Amino acid sequence: MKSQNDLGVPIPANKPLVVRTIKKVTKEQREYALKKTEYNMFSFPADLLFVDFLSDSGSGTMTDLQWAALFHGDESYARNKGYYVLLDAIRDTFERSDNPKRAINLILSGETNVKRLMDELYLTSFEGGFVNGGVHQLTRPNAFIVPQGRCAEHLLFSTIAPILREKDSNREYYIPNNGHFDTTEANIMANGITPVNLFSANLLDEFPYDQMDNNNPFKGNMDIEGLERLIQEKGVDSVPLIYITITNNTAAGQPVAMKNIREVHKIAVKYDIPLFFDACRFAENANFIKEFEKGYQDRSIPSIVQEMFSYIEGFTISFKKDGLANIGGGFFFRDKGTFHKKFSIKEDIGIKLKEKQILTFGNDSYGAMSGRDIMALATGLYEVVQEPYLNERKFQVRNFARKLAQNNVPVILPAGGHAVYLNMDKFFEDSDTKPDDFRGVGFTIELIRHYGIRAAELGPFAFEWDKKSPDQRKEVLNLVRFAVPRNVYGPSHIDYAVAAIIELYNNREKIPKVKISRGAELRLRHFQTGLQPVYK
Ligand code: F0G
Repeated sequence: MKSQNDLGVPIPANKPLVVRTIKKVTKEQREYALKKTEYNMFSFPADLLFVDFLSDSGSGTMTDLQWAALFHGDESYARNKGYYVLLDAIRDTFERSDNPKRAINLILSGETNVKRLMDELYLTSFEGGFVNGGVHQLTRPNAFIVPQGRCAEHLLFSTIAPILREKDSNREYYIPNNGHFDTTEANIMANGITPVNLFSANLLDEFPYDQMDNNNPFKGNMDIEGLERLIQEKGVDSVPLIYITITNNTAAGQPVAMKNIREVHKIAVKYDIPLFFDACRFAENANFIKEFEKGYQDRSIPSIVQEMFSYIEGFTISFKKDGLANIGGGFFFRDKGTFHKKFSIKEDIGIKLKEKQILTFGNDSYGAMSGRDIMALATGLYEVVQEPYLNERKFQVRNFARKLAQNNVPVILPAGGHAVYLNMDKFFEDSDTKPDDFRGVGFTIELIRHYGIRAAELGPFAFEWDKKSPDQRKEVLNLVRFAVPRNVYGPSHIDYAVAAIIELYNNREKIPKVKISRGAELRLRHFQTGLQPVYK
């Protein structure tokens, strides 16, 4: 008899305690709502959907422990207790591997020993890592809590851009990434720096769906040769940072191998350029490394995470990903590391960042988060690295992709960590379709119209193909993404979506082209423009 671990399906990791009834909306009602909201996915009322795969960002289900943690939230204006708990949870998660201190338990258990609270939580001092503590966080701030990832990106890029211009106002600056997310790209561009995508060359290679449990080509990797070439061509001084996004959301949510991180690290050290992570979905990435990269099968997720982060100088993160929490973000950099050295020119870079944080998000101990949300986030950090949860989540996404592939729907394989991506170039390959026909958007409109399912186009429309140079256009993939929020959906939702997608695929000639009826020139226009499907 097979053991519990050998059945080929993961052991269930949790069970729902609360459910919400989905409304019985008709197709005619959705058609009316689509028209009223200019056919834009981001304007459609979520309450009128059956299944929502728009994003896994902040849309997950909180656990009972997270709900309980809310009650420990402290809304004091300065130095709320959750601040200390969160900072130490970040040290635990990214730096302490299998030896977390779990100072959070002092709060959750109602510890009343004042000396213990002072010694182990409120007055402890740390330096040398990503999160200084005590007086070191005051004199050399390096940890910045903000409400979400893009706030961290804004904080970072808007602070370093003037420093770079002061260094050399004539120089063009470039920030390479294995795949910039749209907000990262936009924040970099808004500050006069050029983002560069160095996708792995094998990204769109075929992969057999029946091999997804056996191996993984880590298609999220950075193109190492491309990185060396960029630094050589533009000059070391033109590349202020190197970024790796884990997992690579823009490249179909594919994971990045530890080997690739190590190789990029080597190049970063060779040229003395700080290496950063966009650390959204770090836990899912670590889980792929554990499953598929040689030498990691017997390592714990926390120890893999610790190794990943040992190669970098800093990270921006949206804590809304990985199913961690409904809100939260941050920017952290290594105390006295390369970033600190390079950017502390007239003044300590941490002090400059803190000044901007206070101006825009509030003081450093809450950064525009509520004390309740800080507690839920700190609790979530300990939960997302749990393997049973990660395995079940990964299996759900993989199964979703496998079912589509078995029915010949062009899905990018292997499946990524948080989402299933359809390749729209292949989807429409038997018809005469140009990128700016935006038929990927047409597909998402039809999914809502007929079936009440929402997905996101991440292609020529979202990445503004028509506004780009011929070279930049080559970097634009043509995808539609079904992001699976944490612990929200079960097999019935996935099966319903698979059936709907197959039906639309089989009727793809009826999927309309889409015109931008309002706001084509707006920045980040997929959140803002009005659209009009053109039915034949
Ligand atoms: N980086 C990556 C890789 C992301 O996926 C996101 C957000 C961000 C940064 C920005 O974080 O939303 O907290 O400001 N991705 C969401 C998504 C929106 O649906 O993929 P944020």
